[in-house]
Amino acid sequence: MELDTNLRVTIVNKIRLKLALWFVCTVMLLYSAGGVASLFVFKAMLTRSVDMSLEDLIAEIRPSVQISGENPSLQYWSSTAQVRPTSLLATVQLWDEHKKLIEEYGPEGVRRLEDGSLKIVEGAKKEVVRSKFSRIESKGVLYGYLQLQVSTKPQDDAIKQFALAVLAIAPFVAGGVGGCAYLFSGQAVRPIERTMLLLRRFVADAGHELNTPVATIEACLETIRDPDKLGEMSTDVMNMMERASERMRHLAKDLVTLARIEDPEAELLRVTCDLKEMAETVVSNLLPVAMERNIDLNLEKFPEVKMTAHAESILEIMSNLVENAIKYSEENGKVSISAEQRDHSVLITVTDTGIGIPAESIDMIFDRFYRVDKSRSRDVGGSGLGLSIVKAAVDRHGGQVHVESELGRGTTFRVLLPLHHRQKRSGFA
Ligand SMILES: Nc1ncnc2c1ncn2[C@@H]1O[C@H](COP(=O)(O)OP(=O)(O)OP(=O)(O)O)[C@@H](O)[C@H]1O
Ligand SMILES: [Mg+2]
Repeated sequence: MELDTNLRVTIVNKIRLKLALWFVCTVMLLYSAGGVASLFVFKAMLTRSVDMSLEDLIAEIRPSVQISGENPSLQYWSSTAQVRPTSLLATVQLWDEHKKLIEEYGPEGVRRLEDGSLKIVEGAKKEVVRSKFSRIESKGVLYGYLQLQVSTKPQDDAIKQFALAVLAIAPFVAGGVGGCAYLFSGQAVRPIERTMLLLRRFVADAGHELNTPVATIEACLETIRDPDKLGEMSTDVMNMMERASERMRHLAKDLVTLARIEDPEAELLRVTCDLKEMAETVVSNLLPVAMERNIDLNLEKFPEVKMTAHAESILEIMSNLVENAIKYSEENGKVSISAEQRDHSVLITVTDTGIGIPAESIDMIFDRFYRVDKSRSRDVGGSGLGLSIVKAAVDRHGGQVHVESELGRGTTFRVLLPLHHRQKRSGFA
């Protein structure tokens, strides 16, 4: 059992780890794509802002350009102005109309008249400058060009730092996402874990239920093989074998019925059912069993009610409840089935004056293979699946089942079913 639990924990942990890993991979892939995209956007924004600053500076300096002779000049400006461009580390260049550099102020720039990113390569020194120029014209005559250049090093450094920050945060993002994913996958896996547990328990219970009749048949076969032992016991042996095989047949039928009703994939054919007719069939089928134990089985107030439902499920609900009512009643008891039509639903009631159900067992009677008194219900051939079938069938029809019981006085099962399919659940009033 402990080994089983360990195995289950290992499987569940493996699933959780896998889920967490997949989640981390997906998030990190998105994080990387987001990081690269942000880098490009960041770079484009910085370049755009440098270009705008250069354009502003050109517009600011342009009025200070003097035309002396044939060439433009900034000498007066350089001797008098507070040279603002240098605060931006900009290079100011003046070119004549033949594109020859004639004046340069500020840090040494690239000797090329060109807009855009210009590379400076001087031995090991590699730098990129951003460059903008404007034509110097007067009365339609071209006198030269005013060009401004600025190093992109501060922007490149900012981009590098941004990239480093994205990389440095990555392990924390991965760790955080991984931790959360592992935690939340625990919640996601819980229903699977529960289903696994229920399935194991179900298989174990079903196997256990089969054990007794199989053991009975084996013992009977032993007796049959030994003619000395068989003697006059032959009828008893045959009867025992018949009962054992009947029990297995009953169990197999209940398992198939339950699996079919509970299978959400299985389409249950819904037809118009005459509930009164069905109740009459159930009563007449079980009357011989009731009479055998001198139990008064009655169909009480039961109006003509038609409902759209899976006929087999409705029959299962009625017959299991009436069968239980008879099985768990003492001789001379009373069992009745009645119905009452409400607005859009029908209330079916099965009442008995039987042994009743202890309060602590009420919540468990719908569980598979649960029996209050195992030895007693085994005597009457029950495997504990009847009420599970009832609950599954009621749920499948969007209804509710309710039980009231008093030990030694009797039990009442009430089943509320909507008359038509896909109707909103209605509660017990
Ligand atoms: N009307 C009732 N009165 C007293 N106890 C009941 C009644 N109906 C059900 N029970 C209790 O609930 C248990 C579960 O009922 P359920 O119908 O699921 O199983 P079962 O009758 O033992 O076997 P099966 O229906 O598979 O033949 C029963 O074993 C019994 O102890
Ligand atoms: Mg039963």
